[in-house]
Amino acid sequence: MDVLRIDVCPGLGSLDGGPNSALAAAQVLAADAWGADRSWFLHNGSTAGNQIMLMATCHPGDVVLTSRNTHKSIVSGLVVSGARPVYIRPELDPESHIAHGVTPEQIEEALDHHPEAKAVLIVSPTYYGACSDVAGIADVAHRHGIPLLVDEAWGAHFPFHPSLPPHAFSAGADMAVTGVHKLLGAFLQASLVHVRGDLVDGDRVEVVAGMVQSTSASALLRASLDVARMQMATEGEALLSDVIALAEDAREEINNHPRLSCLGKELVGNHGVVALDPTRLVVNVTGAGFSGYEADRVLFNEHDVAVELSDFANVLADVTIGHQREDLDRFVAALRAMADDPHAQQLSSKGFVEEALRVLPEQALSPMEAFHAPQERVSLAQSVGRVSAEMAATYPPGIPVLVPGERLNPALVAHLQAQVEAGGRIVGPSDPKLATIEVVRE
Ligand SMILES: Cc1ncc(COP(=O)(O)O)c(C=O)c1O
Repeated sequence: MDVLRIDVCPGLGSLDGGPNSALAAAQVLAADAWGADRSWFLHNGSTAGNQIMLMATCHPGDVVLTSRNTHKSIVSGLVVSGARPVYIRPELDPESHIAHGVTPEQIEEALDHHPEAKAVLIVSPTYYGACSDVAGIADVAHRHGIPLLVDEAWGAHFPFHPSLPPHAFSAGADMAVTGVHKLLGAFLQASLVHVRGDLVDGDRVEVVAGMVQSTSASALLRASLDVARMQMATEGEALLSDVIALAEDAREEINNHPRLSCLGKELVGNHGVVALDPTRLVVNVTGAGFSGYEADRVLFNEHDVAVELSDFANVLADVTIGHQREDLDRFVAALRAMADDPHAQQLSSKGFVEEALRVLPEQALSPMEAFHAPQERVSLAQSVGRVSAEMAATYPPGIPVLVPGERLNPALVAHLQAQVEAGGRIVGPSDPKLATIEVVRE
């Protein structure tokens, strides 16, 4: 009831609240906390942030280099901005089946082939907590005179503890999105976009931010951003010390089980990863005879434990300032009980068509061109050779396997079918079971 009572316009002003508004003051404090020159409060999540980053830096047809393990919101940003992506393929970790970081060398090589690129956009950390060499990539982008944009949706806590990986602006990024609602205390949908330096035009960001968001921002969401910022600025280091300790203890206990393994420091230096967020617990369950999807169901149905995401091989748990030691103990106990189940070996990991992730499909049209082209619906089985008008991503983590404008090939179709059969939730296509798919009419 109190929530309803306070959901009124409290005089913060609209998105252009004016230089003397409470909103403007709160945004200055946010910029200071996250190391930016200017920050904008977002009330449509990091999805809006990614759309804003692309619309503020690219015009239709402009080339943007982006890591292929982007989030689906970046694909929506490509559609609305009209930018033409050149994908950098992160190396796939054969153990965990996860695509991690991209390297400065890959960016350099791509810029040699595409000197016309207008920006570089990377996701760091990834959903799984893997951080690319943002500083090295920023150097490369700057040598070519273009900005580095970082989707830091999962790294909102980084500036507030010295043991966490460097945050985007300390590493030289020019623009970044921070998902404050994800791992900190802001309400869902509350996020930030920031700029630093003069490679990105802040006034254009202001205009675009006003275009992709509601003009009736919730004061509750905005206030929650300010509160989350204050909490981190005043007690972040102490709170995050506890979080890191909880996560490290759980990681050690999980790794003590012979059939479970939790991603850790061994990843650093491999697969384009220079740092790992210690607060993410990525547990490979295949040694225990489960796919990640199956483990997710067992943990939820039999142990009342909900994980953040599952994929073919892993389940992922976040450890946040909202967790207590009992929560982690329950998670570890549930994992151990599951892994000790004598019937577990009867369950098997379903097919995983790695080729679909190792080889990028041919890009016949830009995402915007394909999205707006005349379309027709065909069965997925008959879609090989056709240009997709839709995106398909497993969710979570929401990493697209197929982007509008890409030509479907046999490995891609087999991979999508395997994901559906394995119980993965596919988002993007208008037919969520993916029996059929919208393709560009020939
Ligand atoms: C890497 C990444 N970027 C952006 C987003 C979009 O964030 P939001 O849900 O706040 O719109 C997500 C969501 O999971 C994400 O994982």
